[in-house]
Amino acid sequence: MANETPDYALLARQVAALVEDQPHWMSSLANVSALLATSLPHINWVGFYIRDSRLGEDSPASELVLGPFQGKVACTRIPFGRGVCGTAAQLDRTQRVDDVQAFAGHIACDTASASELVVPLHASGQVVGVLDIDSPQPARFSAADQTGLERVARAVERVFCA
Ligand code: SME
Repeated sequence: MANETPDYALLARQVAALVEDQPHWMSSLANVSALLATSLPHINWVGFYIRDSRLGEDSPASELVLGPFQGKVACTRIPFGRGVCGTAAQLDRTQRVDDVQAFAGHIACDTASASELVVPLHASGQVVGVLDIDSPQPARFSAADQTGLERVARAVERVFCA
């Protein structure tokens, strides 16, 4: 099914403008999740998982905790290395999954989800969380979507500098 590819350069500028002069990362991520939910077609969940800062950055027990999002109720904690989100965080590499059922260890929060894109977020060179987007369409995210959303993620990272 054809998707309308959003203007990701514009979206990244909108994110940058939204988070500018906003001193708290949580408020910024809440607004960014709302912006992305209304800007990205054919998605059923978009939001953030944030590294639990109570654990040391080099801790093998690092976990992600649920942050601001739009969509159905989701799992609250994901260990590094678990699921699509934990894999993206541990490897520090975007995970673009065409078929979540075929991803070993995928954590199903919304059974409607068929494909998923997870982009790591950084501060001072460290992974501090992920941007997670689910779609009810198989193979919803193209290579162009991945590149565009990685660009958006670079704008999102500004929230951690505030
Ligand atoms: N599917 C994710 C879990 C989070 S939900 O999609 C919101 C995963 O496997 O990490």
